Amino acid sequence: MDNKAYSIAIDGPVAAGKGTIAPKLARRLKGLYLYTGAMYRCVALFCFKKGVDLNNEGSVESILSKINIEFKEEKILLNNEDVTEQIKKEIVAMGSSKVALYKGVRQKLVFYQKEIAQKALSEGMSVVAEGRDTATKVLPNASLKIFLTAKPETRAKRRLAQIKKRGEKEDFKKVLDDVVKRDQQDSKRKIDPLVQNPENYGYFVLDNSDLSEKETIDAIVAKIKND
Ligand code: DC
Repeated sequence: MDNKAYSIAIDGPVAAGKGTIAPKLARRLKGLYLYTGAMYRCVALFCFKKGVDLNNEGSVESILSKINIEFKEEKILLNNEDVTEQIKKEIVAMGSSKVALYKGVRQKLVFYQKEIAQKALSEGMSVVAEGRDTATKVLPNASLKIFLTAKPETRAKRRLAQIKKRGEKEDFKKVLDDVVKRDQQDSKRKIDPLVQNPENYGYFVLDNSDLSEKETIDAIVAKIKND
């Protein structure tokens, strides 16, 4: 691999492996992993902690000025507290899907994300940004836009394995229902929906249902080299 700084945007449906692949790709490129979903999760977590009603757009937007989110050595800090594990909970995931619908929340978080990405790129570091609008809003001029996907059953199986690993219990049917529900919620929303025909929007579409992590990363690196 050469020493060029690449900007890579990774989007795709829930539990397609973005969260596993993106940080490993960033490590391979010696770059920054910009996990944008973490920021929406932090907003939801903060609301839960402070008793803010997630259904009240105005209330959620009013707490944005009280939030400071940092990415430090692969940890996510919310107002200096390490919340890396807390934001992985399913309840926070569902909440983040709600706050991600609010225009004011998106504007503010995208502004922060662009700032973080531009700083890294200006220092010669590659950036691997993961999240819904990273290819359109955060890194519109990305060197490579990837749409990472997999069959719903494969995604539910992976999500269930993650849940079990955390010592929580859940059954496959419920997880599959949640995956499908999150897909619908994310596809139907007005602002920055999950795209339906990613190849039409310049994405490199990678279905990793039958690929290992290494094979997935190798396929992406091969694409970067060949472009
Ligand atoms: O990728 P994730 O599951 O951690 O994202 C949490 C929620 O935030 C998910 O419902 C999609 C939303 N999100 C978003 O709207 N825009 C982003 N750039 C990243 C995540």
